[in-house]
Amino acid sequence: MRTPIIAANWKMHKTVTEALEFVEQLAGLLDTGNTETVICPPFPLLGCVAEACHKYGLRVGAQNMYWEATGAFTGEVSPLLLKDLAVDYVIIGHSERRQLFAETDQHVARKVKAAFAHDLTPIVCVGETLQQRQAEQTMDVVGEQVTVAVTGLDPSQVRRMVIAYEPVWAIGSGLAATGKDANEVACYIRKTIGELFSLKVARDVRLQYGGSVKPENIADFMQETDVDGALVGGAALDSAKFAGIINGVIGANS
Ligand code: PGA
Repeated sequence: MRTPIIAANWKMHKTVTEALEFVEQLAGLLDTGNTETVICPPFPLLGCVAEACHKYGLRVGAQNMYWEATGAFTGEVSPLLLKDLAVDYVIIGHSERRQLFAETDQHVARKVKAAFAHDLTPIVCVGETLQQRQAEQTMDVVGEQVTVAVTGLDPSQVRRMVIAYEPVWAIGSGLAATGKDANEVACYIRKTIGELFSLKVARDVRLQYGGSVKPENIADFMQETDVDGALVGGAALDSAKFAGIINGVIGANS
């Protein structure tokens, strides 16, 4: 059984006070269940958010990192430091990183390897643009992004990773994919991993959907066979909405 995983991608939002308030409020709103919850704040908030989250069994993730452990890389953050701050997860290759900061599939692959080398679990983001969807290139684009991201990994690493299918056109647009469409791509990702590694590995990888997820639509995704959770942006900035999503997972699974 794959444990559901819901992650909050705060992007470039929240101050120290707002972040700590959010964690306290969220902890008070969550029903008990086996869903894993991950909060991904901006870098400077990782230390204090990790301390607050760990009291409540919530996990913490970074939104990016560099692949080197130390060195003259001004402005970058290393996996070694993330580990030192008790961070568990790291989002890699979010479409905003790819589009606004010129990250390529090769950068993503290096970061994924570095994450595993430092015992961090990568949440690798993949997904097609609207233009690619209209040109019916979704599976090709996603297949290539997944294939490059897992190249050179051990099966034991691939089994532990999380892949977030985030169609670029659904991010922040209010236009979520349907559960059925998300599941179709999730199935394709699982099939790709199965062909590159084994069915056993493919069965263990956790796949999230991301793009305009909210309390009202989380069940549409969680009821699908191959979607194991969600990566949430806008609706994860509000503790009540984010709690609604997590509690909705528990509802969908029970
Ligand atoms: P959204 O963002 O939930 O605001 O669409 C998702 C993401 O960017 O991960």
